[in-house]
Amino acid sequence: MTVLVTGGAGFIGSHVCAELLANGGDDVVVVDNFSNSSQGALRALRVLTGRDVVLHQLDLRDNTELDRVFEQHEIDSVIHFAAKKSVRESLQIPLDYFDNNIAGMTSLLLCMVRHGVRRLIFSSSCSIYGDQSQGPIGEDSPPCPTNPYARSKLICEQILADTCARYDDFAVISLRYFNPVGAHPSGTLGESPLGIPSNVMPYIMQVAGGRLERLQVFGADYPTPDGSPVRDYIHVMDVAEAHCLALHYLADGPGLRVLNLGTGVGVSVLELVRAVEDTCNVVVPYEVVARREGDAASAVADPSLIDKEWGWRTSRDIRAMCKDAWLFQQLHPRGYVV
Ligand code: NAD
Ligand code: WQD
Repeated sequence: MTVLVTGGAGFIGSHVCAELLANGGDDVVVVDNFSNSSQGALRALRVLTGRDVVLHQLDLRDNTELDRVFEQHEIDSVIHFAAKKSVRESLQIPLDYFDNNIAGMTSLLLCMVRHGVRRLIFSSSCSIYGDQSQGPIGEDSPPCPTNPYARSKLICEQILADTCARYDDFAVISLRYFNPVGAHPSGTLGESPLGIPSNVMPYIMQVAGGRLERLQVFGADYPTPDGSPVRDYIHVMDVAEAHCLALHYLADGPGLRVLNLGTGVGVSVLELVRAVEDTCNVVVPYEVVARREGDAASAVADPSLIDKEWGWRTSRDIRAMCKDAWLFQQLHPRGYVV
């Protein structure tokens, strides 16, 4: 099989490429514009897998260039990661988020229709649920996005539903990730955002590595056991494994299926700091500051549907997430050097 991976140079995309190349022997074609990544991830992928990864450096919204990619390769399935993903930035430049994430998606779908490619996995997000802190979040929880980024993901899911309604041979699986962290256990691949990280785990790693001074904990006055917000951190290798499985389940038949990707285990920010300190034998200086606007007190998945449907559950715990993220940080103190 040849799998087109949009955003394949990014954090999650690169780990999924590694699993595809390692497992099924699938060929991988990456489309990325490097707006939040670099060639370093692809170099690391080639070293890790000993396989070639074809790269097309282009913006998904460039239909002409994208058409060429579909003409050059016999693509069987698409995994669509390419998107902007910062909640905070999306509040500042909402139109750029809608343009990139929604126009990118429609450009891709139009191209798939033109070239007869009918299988797609989409990176959705727990952020579409909004603030539903009362308990584990199931797929049937009503969506309530609270920022442009989350809205862009919900709109994409709606576009996918309309696409499946119109084309009865389209098979789509939308995976709603909770908080992916960690790295490839070899330390070869990891999270290497451009600029100062906005997500908590890469920020903690850079503090532990001495690149940033201290973590700011955004609020310790939430109605949670220790007052800091609780999240469902999931190892990026579990996320990658689920994508490989999803590729097989696409063959089950047409229509849109939506599944959570989480562990069902809640970890607070202060627990995460302690887990990094204990597992990696490092010190993570931190200070508690005001809450971050728009943050939920708690966001934990009900992961039972994917278990019921596919008999699959995550297998890596928070210690593995910390250990693997730290190995990547140690081996790449400045991320992928461009
Ligand atoms: P990332 O920023 O590391 O990767 C995204 C990649 O897409 C980058 O390499 C970027 O250069 C590329 N890209 C963005 N817009 C593009 C465009 N228009 N054309 C071509 N390439 C483009 O992000 P990630 O953490 O790997 O996330 C991957 C996907 O998963 C995103 O869709 C994100 O919304 C979703 N997601 C991420 C998380 C998370 O916490 N990391 C959680 C839920 C959902
Ligand atoms: C985690 C916790 C912060 C940074 C977002 C999206 C979600 C998914 C993951 C894309 C929160 C706290 C953070 C820091 C901190 N992405 N924090 N200091 O906001 O849970 O989720 O990214 O779809 O959909 O909504 O992730 O890593 O930013 O924050 O205290 O410097 O860490 O308050 O409680 P978040 P995050």
